[in-house]
Amino acid sequence: MKKFIKKIKLIRRLYDIYIASRYFNHKYFQIIKWAFNSNEDTNYTYNLSNKNKLELLKLFEIIFKNINYEEIKYYLDEIENDHDIIKDIKTRILNSKYKNFTDLEVNFSRRLGWYICVRILKPKTVVETGVDKGLGSLVITKALMKNKEDGCSGYYYGTDINPDAGYLFSGNYKKFGKILYGDSIKSLKKIEKEIDLFINDSDHSADYEYSEYQTIRNKLSKNAIILGDNSHVTDRLLKFSIENKRNYIIFKEEPLNHWYPGAGIGISYPRNK
Ligand SMILES: C[S@@+](CC[C@H](N)C(=O)[O-])C[C@H]1O[C@@H](n2cnc3c(N)ncnc32)[C@H](O)[C@@H]1O
Repeated sequence: MKKFIKKIKLIRRLYDIYIASRYFNHKYFQIIKWAFNSNEDTNYTYNLSNKNKLELLKLFEIIFKNINYEEIKYYLDEIENDHDIIKDIKTRILNSKYKNFTDLEVNFSRRLGWYICVRILKPKTVVETGVDKGLGSLVITKALMKNKEDGCSGYYYGTDINPDAGYLFSGNYKKFGKILYGDSIKSLKKIEKEIDLFINDSDHSADYEYSEYQTIRNKLSKNAIILGDNSHVTDRLLKFSIENKRNYIIFKEEPLNHWYPGAGIGISYPRNK
């Protein structure tokens, strides 16, 4: 039968289309399931596959040569088993006017990598551009709280142009940071402290992203790390890293049971790391 199909080009190509489509068809089922089960219409959240989480850990092991795998894994387990942050997020969602646009199942996706990075680096100053609900803000400030318990204090600045952004970021978390409202570039210019960890996640146009990197270039501390949330789409963090003689590596998400193909974390770090 296969031999017969192979002989007639049109039938062969129809068969080939069927084989190729098998790589994508399950996504349509996931889209339909998601349409009924989720409230999200942007900034999607999902869990990562176990394999993908292990890839993330191994990647940090390459970047932070003086930290062993067990310690990196400890930080992943720490945030994944943190019932308080999950409870805080759920309570804030239920009390907000956005509850019909948000899911109560809390998944941090690539922000797990942000958390691990804050825990390893112990930054004094972290900046995240683009806050949205404040999921990243909570993950980052939670890591700063844990760092403080370990004797290392740090402070978070989030930036967002939307005055309603950051409704999750309240209570105790606010003791560890603040949100600067307005255009990100303008806010970044006002930050006078040295930045140890910079996370780009605001206006996702390539030019704007690049302008953010240019704005903070001279504010970066010696061992500063930049995480790009747009690096699976643009080459700007890669370009910035080449121009500034920094290392660059990208982590690509593998979402678990979700139609979204996944974003990534572009990681730019000094060569001496
Ligand atoms: C993808 S969301 C950020 C998601 C967030 N980092 C998280 O962890 O969930 C992008 C955010 O960037 C904000 N934004 C867009 N353009 C901006 C600009 N020029 N300056 C500051 N914020 C901006 C939007 O209001 C939006 O809340």
